[in-house]
Amino acid sequence: MLIESLDHKGRGISRVNGKIIFIENALPGEDVDISVIKDKKKYSEAIVKNFNEKINDRENVKCPYYYKCGGCQIMHMKHDQQLSFKQNKISNIIEKYFDKKTHINPIVYGNQYNYRNKLRLQVKDKVGLYEKETNKIVDIDSCLICNSLINDKINKLKKLNLKYIKDITMRVGDNQSIVLLNSSKDVDTECINNDFDNIIVKSNKTIIKKGSSYIKIKLNNVVFQVSIESFFQVNYDIMIKMYDYVKSQLSGNNKVLDLYCGIGSISLYIKDVVSKVFGVEINKQAIIDANINKELNNCQNVSFRCSDTKDIIINDYYDTIIVDPPRAGLNKQIINELLKSDSKQIIYVSCDPLTMVRDINLLKNKYDLISITPFDMFPNTYHVECVCVLKLR
Ligand SMILES: C[S@@+](CC[C@H](N)C(=O)[O-])C[C@H]1O[C@@H](n2cnc3c(N)ncnc32)[C@H](O)[C@@H]1O
Repeated sequence: MLIESLDHKGRGISRVNGKIIFIENALPGEDVDISVIKDKKKYSEAIVKNFNEKINDRENVKCPYYYKCGGCQIMHMKHDQQLSFKQNKISNIIEKYFDKKTHINPIVYGNQYNYRNKLRLQVKDKVGLYEKETNKIVDIDSCLICNSLINDKINKLKKLNLKYIKDITMRVGDNQSIVLLNSSKDVDTECINNDFDNIIVKSNKTIIKKGSSYIKIKLNNVVFQVSIESFFQVNYDIMIKMYDYVKSQLSGNNKVLDLYCGIGSISLYIKDVVSKVFGVEINKQAIIDANINKELNNCQNVSFRCSDTKDIIINDYYDTIIVDPPRAGLNKQIINELLKSDSKQIIYVSCDPLTMVRDINLLKNKYDLISITPFDMFPNTYHVECVCVLKLR
């Protein structure tokens, strides 16, 4: 069976009697025999049983867990193939929704490996990551896409008494890391040992901690303090490139509304190039972190509010509104507020291009999509981050 193209998840596409088949780990131009794992009326999903012909420039996969683990999906592509897959994915999505030619900038990229600053491990009979599409666990000793400080900890963690631990989260800052053990029963103090400078063991009732409960990271001249559970981008290098791009779209007299602001990452990063920023975020701990970060950076022109964007009424005028929602995209209420706002510019930062185009389509009676820039925030996975610039017509 010949592979024709790739779907948006990086799976090979082929057809039998007009019915579409999505095949994991198969690349355009390859000839494969398959085993069907899901058969639906309109499509099937399959895995490769045998390669009759492989293309020459397949990546030699270095991760021993890749074909089982659900973490990465496109590690079998060379890095430049991954980048063109993501670039094409965005062009295809944009072409479906928008008549006018939208300018799609070349994807911004960095290192293919060791980029992740955060990892969550599942703990059952094994310690590792979920298998593809199951809740079974692949036992791992290291993860090729994670920072070495995270990898140094995995084997040390496995030596602890993890009897009641459900999952483990690790996050890395400037030469420092922090570990959170999530426990189903009261805290097991044996878990706290000298291998870890900063460790928290948390159950429903108690929290035991040694060292700090947050990491510090300096990105250019802005310092961030991040609690282990708050949202923060997982790839520092691409995060800086993306925030620099957002910054380049603003000017000195801009008054900015930063919706879905997390711990104030974008608000604080842009503080020197705008007159004022107001950040809104639903998570209480993130807003506590955001206000600490404001103090740490001695910042007078930034303020934050803890609120659901559903409840926000945009009464004041903002030159630019930045939105950076989770995968689900924007809610209806905030879309209506954006349409009433008369802001000159909206910058939409997104980790899901499908919900992003859905939302931009709802804004198109008033806002033109001027440009879109993809960022390779998550190499070896099919995910891609985008920044869209929209202008008031
Ligand atoms: C993709 S993160 C972006 C955070 C931040 N802009 C950054 O770059 O680090 C999305 C954020 O939206 C917050 N959030 C989710 N739903 C929300 C809502 N309905 N109203 C306000 N904030 C929300 C989440 O807690 C999370 O911090």
